[in-house]
Amino acid sequence: MSGTTPEPATVGDQYDPIRLQPSPWDFYARARREEAVFYAPATGAYMVTRYDDVRQVLGAVDTFSMAGVLRVMEVLSDDARAELQKAFPPFTPDEEPGDAARLKAREPIARAFSPERVRAMHTELSATVLALLDALDDQGPGDLMMTVGRPLPIYGKAIALGFRGDDLPALVEGAYALSVLSSAGSALDATTQLHLARMVVPYQTILTGYVAERMARRGTDLISQILTAIADSPDAPGPQAAARTAVETLIALIGAGQSTTTSSFGLGVYQLLTHRDDWKALAADPTLAPAAVEELLRFDSPIQALTRRTTCPVALGGVKLESGTDVMVVFPSANRDEAEFEDGGRLRIDRSPNRHLTFGYGPRSCVGMHLARALLTAAFGELARRHSGLRLAGNDAMTLWPGMHRLVRTLDVEW
Ligand code: HEM
Repeated sequence: MSGTTPEPATVGDQYDPIRLQPSPWDFYARARREEAVFYAPATGAYMVTRYDDVRQVLGAVDTFSMAGVLRVMEVLSDDARAELQKAFPPFTPDEEPGDAARLKAREPIARAFSPERVRAMHTELSATVLALLDALDDQGPGDLMMTVGRPLPIYGKAIALGFRGDDLPALVEGAYALSVLSSAGSALDATTQLHLARMVVPYQTILTGYVAERMARRGTDLISQILTAIADSPDAPGPQAAARTAVETLIALIGAGQSTTTSSFGLGVYQLLTHRDDWKALAADPTLAPAAVEELLRFDSPIQALTRRTTCPVALGGVKLESGTDVMVVFPSANRDEAEFEDGGRLRIDRSPNRHLTFGYGPRSCVGMHLARALLTAAFGELARRHSGLRLAGNDAMTLWPGMHRLVRTLDVEW
């Protein structure tokens, strides 16, 4: 990091996000009281813990920029990076698409997952969730992440993207592996990184195949719309680079919704099963599900922090930051800030209003939030309805991937 010289900070010196992973909330409550914006040697960034300050950062995209922030793949081992590049090598300088093409490619995505379009997909989305829960019932008690959590986001997006059923298992496996590498990669050993990277290659090959098909013959699906948008951009690249830009866009789209939705499902079920009265209430009345989803997203969010870099000197929470300073907004802290959420440390599945920040805030906030909400609402409501007696299989039923984020690896349940 360049920029502001850190002040000595007691909260910051004690901050160890990896050790806090199982239960970060008490530490952040102390930070909000004592030093709401603190420099952390462990991350090389200023951590932003209060609700209003997090909104200030995420809302001011010109002052708090994503440009120059570390790209996740840079932290992986050489072997894992080489494996990932087998099916999707980096752009060569003359292939590199302009910003306009990349931005244009995102427009149809926002349309495809707008509230109206997600509402219009309601029947298909519900059928998708029911099919996953049927598979769970066939399989019986075991790891809920394997049967429901991991497939949920890809199955949900498959409708808009026009994926064929046969491809879904490999897409689930690859998307999941890539999302773990992206969010937890630096905390994994080199063997695990390579193992996951090998699962990603078939996934990238399948996506490249879909794009090639749609290049040859456009349909009405989202992949075709992405290709059309790229072709219509002011700096439209040639056909080969356009196809690669579309694959890149798909990887980013699927990646953004993968570990987030999967882990929100796992954390949500875990919290409900450890707040038994809420689980029983949901089982008795599945119409509680939409408000419960919001509260579970607030109470236990998978993504712990996002990084931004200041583009000019700025004051934040009483701290003066120079240009070029990294800041990280801390969702699990902002989401329990008592200044915004009364009794913020308590799960209240009927909380209203509930303006949590788990989907981000401002111009860059999550474009998939309506889809995620629809999937989680259907999944929690139907799971509780079918299995009111569901319980965690033992004290260590939930395991997380190593690292700072709360990414659920396994969730063993029985009934
Ligand atoms: C519970 C599940 C989800 C959570 C917690 C979540 C969270 C977020 C957050 C916090 C951001 C803002 C990132 C930033 O400001 O840098 C974001 C962006 C994004 N999300 Fe989600 N997301 C979820 C599900 C999804 C799904 C299902 C999709 C796909 C349909 C999706 C697609 C995206 C995309 C494309 C962006 C990038 C927006 C941009 O950079 O302009 N997300 N998400």
